[in-house]
Amino acid sequence: MKHNRVVFLVLGWLWYMPLLAQELVPAPVSRTDGVGFFEFSSRTKVVTNLKKDEAKPLTAIVDELAKETPASRNKRVVLLHSANAKGDAWNEVRLQAYNLSVTRDTVRIEAPSAMGLFYGLQTLRQLTTDGKVRCTQIQDIPRYRHRGLLLDCSRHFWSKEFIKKQLDAMAYFKLDRFHFHLVDGGGWRLEIKKYPDLVNKTAFRSHDDWDEWIENGRRFSSSTDKGAYGGYYSQADIQDIVNYAKDRYITVIPEIEMPGHSNEVLYAYPELSCTGKGDGFDLCVGNEKTFVFLTDVLKETMKLFPSEYIHVGGDEAIMRYWKTCPKCIKLYRNHHMTDTVQIQSYLMTRIDSFLTAHGRKMMGWDEVLDGDRISAGTTVVSWRGEKGGIKAARIGHHAVMAPSKYCYLDRYQDEPSLQPKAIGGYTPLDSVYSYNPMPAGLKNTPLENFIDGVQGNLWTEYIDTERYAEYMIYPRLLAIAELGWGTTGAYSDFRKRVIAVMKTLKLRGYHGFDVSTEFGRLKKE
Ligand code: ACM
Repeated sequence: MKHNRVVFLVLGWLWYMPLLAQELVPAPVSRTDGVGFFEFSSRTKVVTNLKKDEAKPLTAIVDELAKETPASRNKRVVLLHSANAKGDAWNEVRLQAYNLSVTRDTVRIEAPSAMGLFYGLQTLRQLTTDGKVRCTQIQDIPRYRHRGLLLDCSRHFWSKEFIKKQLDAMAYFKLDRFHFHLVDGGGWRLEIKKYPDLVNKTAFRSHDDWDEWIENGRRFSSSTDKGAYGGYYSQADIQDIVNYAKDRYITVIPEIEMPGHSNEVLYAYPELSCTGKGDGFDLCVGNEKTFVFLTDVLKETMKLFPSEYIHVGGDEAIMRYWKTCPKCIKLYRNHHMTDTVQIQSYLMTRIDSFLTAHGRKMMGWDEVLDGDRISAGTTVVSWRGEKGGIKAARIGHHAVMAPSKYCYLDRYQDEPSLQPKAIGGYTPLDSVYSYNPMPAGLKNTPLENFIDGVQGNLWTEYIDTERYAEYMIYPRLLAIAELGWGTTGAYSDFRKRVIAVMKTLKLRGYHGFDVSTEFGRLKKE
């Protein structure tokens, strides 16, 4: 009898194992699987010491898992225990750690903070198949505090629902910073009450297709014009997105691009250009009206976005008109400048002081380090390789690593002739995964502390449908998530997990590049 019971148990265990082959992305720091499984039931109860407002979104996750199971008489407990440790969970990874223990009748998650419990629950979600979770012990902690995704909403406009869908996936993969690229030459997408023409005049344009639009003179149009393409986020939309992100422990970092990539601003407000006629792509820095405009816009932006960081662009200013503009020349002379790039540094320094005075921190692309007058509070996003991040750390600035070769999700991920049109380059999944956000020269030095994390950037010049956007994001964002969590290992193991996890994502309605048939990858292994 006893013997039969053992055989039965072993057979039962084998039967469930394939079903419960539960892969995790990002990989946890340590995982020891046991025998047997926990089964959610309609009577699953959450027991927690969290305060009501913190408990609510976490309890909702458990309810969702329990909902997928048939009615059952089994009483089951999910225990969420927070040590309520002091500190700022957004910025201190030690507070984002968690321990997860799954036994046959209890799931126990312990963490220093609600954010850690949230991540324990994301792991639980990934481990749950048909209401069952294999018994396991997991200890986990992220390596970097900035684990980000940038979505370019200017070159193509993305609906609020689409953004929420990506925030859901970000949370699932424990990413915590959404870099919202809201304004750029393709259209201004953020309602600013004091400057209504930003959206009234530039949120729509003559052509959806990027190349056709440029070939036809980059014309903006009104929303009611025939064939007008575009859209914008009302301030109510933004509040909705920010709250949705907050429930998922994601900070939304808005980007208000300046002084380059601003042709849409110059179209709406030509007096902010060097010629006064809207020419060029750069704001006129010699004109005080530019500062009135920017600080007004930033004031409304700060009201909408509680984020500690406000990204102010700073990349790829052309600086052509500054060289001949009387106002910019006067500024240059008055401030004893020796290089045109210092005109940009001047702007950045003033904006940095403004943001600092309002209790915020300035973030900018690595060009903000060019010139010799670098603003004190800048956090740099290093995109032109790693140089910017390394320089930032060496002079005591924080940096987020997003070198285009590894982190630009708009580059081809397969042989270009087989792919829809993309910006160029070649960044397949294994290239992203091979990146180490800690530059070699900073490793094992105190400067490691200045590297805040890593970010994937989806620029959307050539990405014009939701399906194509997700195809470019997934699964490369999973590699970014694991780089940020700091648990990368062999690519072959990662790829196997990605193939399994992508099946779940597809069931949840996401599209993605099929890594199981990735060009050239199969042959390599
Ligand atoms: C950038 O890709 N221009 C930041």
